[in-house]
Amino acid sequence: MQKALVCSACNYIHLKDAAPEKCPVCGAYSKSFTLKDDVLKTKEDIVTTGESHKKHLPVITINNTTENLQEIKVAVGELEHPMIPEHYITSIIFYADNDYIGRISLSHNLKPKGSILLNTNAKKISVIENCNIHGNWITEQDI
Ligand SMILES: [Fe+2]
Repeated sequence: MQKALVCSACNYIHLKDAAPEKCPVCGAYSKSFTLKDDVLKTKEDIVTTGESHKKHLPVITINNTTENLQEIKVAVGELEHPMIPEHYITSIIFYADNDYIGRISLSHNLKPKGSILLNTNAKKISVIENCNIHGNWITEQDI
């Protein structure tokens, strides 16, 4: 499990070492950020989480479009996560070189999938998904 800076106002997870001047999601000031332990589960947690990672780790596919954009497609996960009112993926959150770029909020009547179009020179894409029961899981992939 990884520690990370978390906005206490909106639970936004910051992937850099220093808190931002303002939260890019809700605008809260940097003093709202606290370093929390065990915020993110990664592929390194596979041993301790049994089969659970297969339903939670984001699976990223990157395609280059004809307009010179990058399409970032995400599925949660390798085995599709359930989407029922009691247990579902609430959001898929995107980062380029650890900078926040956007999020997709999901309701339980959607598939646990999402995609965005990017125009970036970033070297790395990171995707966090939040499960309302099993927490936050991150996958990182070179672009
Ligand atoms: Fe879950």
